[in-house]
Amino acid sequence: MLTQRPIIIDTDPGIDDALAIAIALFDARLDVKLITTVAGNVSLEKVTYNTLRLLHFFGKDVPVAKGAYKPLIGPLVDASDIHGPSGMEGFDFPEPKQKLLLEEHAINAMRRVILESPEPMTLVPIGPLTNIALLLSVYPEVKENIREIVMMGGSVTRGNKGVMSEFNIATDPEAAKVVFDSGVPIAVATLDVGLKALVMPEDTAQLPALGKVGQMAHCLFQKYRGGSFRTGLKMYDSCAMAYLLCPELFQIAETFVDVELAGSLTKGCTVVDLKGYLHQPANAKVCVDIDGEAFRKWFLKSVGQCV
Ligand code: BDR
Ligand code: CA
Repeated sequence: MLTQRPIIIDTDPGIDDALAIAIALFDARLDVKLITTVAGNVSLEKVTYNTLRLLHFFGKDVPVAKGAYKPLIGPLVDASDIHGPSGMEGFDFPEPKQKLLLEEHAINAMRRVILESPEPMTLVPIGPLTNIALLLSVYPEVKENIREIVMMGGSVTRGNKGVMSEFNIATDPEAAKVVFDSGVPIAVATLDVGLKALVMPEDTAQLPALGKVGQMAHCLFQKYRGGSFRTGLKMYDSCAMAYLLCPELFQIAETFVDVELAGSLTKGCTVVDLKGYLHQPANAKVCVDIDGEAFRKWFLKSVGQCV
């Protein structure tokens, strides 16, 4: 019998989030118990509405809980330039029903779902880490029943928000620091692999034939500015799902990761100590490279399964 891995997705949809969520919801090996929302790509109200729109469109009844309105310390600087003003520009979603939206705050819903789970839970944050940092700080007892945090965020080499900093970490660096310091097992789908997780024009052309999720993706991709339509659209957040479902796509290094909070030029960058300069024990499995061609095949196959 197939054993499903229970997961909670923490997200800020986001066009690449939309695809990652679809892949997780339609893959029989994952059991999405809860989706929590966090301010990131656009405001909390918009990302929550987008999550409800996705679930209604997919016909999936997963509970949703709203999380943090802003990063722990700084203001929210969103990514509407990449995802459009709504955060999911380009597709005409049917109006969702509100019934899936819980009254509980995201961190209370996460605590409940984690502690009630007979099997240790995997958290999959694909937005800023504000909710996860709050959860681990307010309710440290949940750590006992967390199998792993599999995140999209950070980078080994360069940034996409600052010179060195990746968007999800740079948006709430203090939260990211809390998470990396937490002692919970962590896996990181970095910007480095996201930049190579490309959907090329010939892949996009195949999407409409793959069913309604493929048609949705085809429309959203006309507006997505994460990369370019011609040289490849970057499926950052799907890399976290690929790590769960197809880890052989990645080259992985187990190493120490910290978050720069003080640097005047580098605040919000992850310091990935591949050479052991800092003499710290490893706290993360870091995806340092990806087989881009194999990812493209995996991505199209996965979207094709979204029926
Ligand atoms: C991350 O930033 C967001 O815009 C994407 O959704 C992804 O989670 C990539 O840096
Ligand atoms: Ca995201």
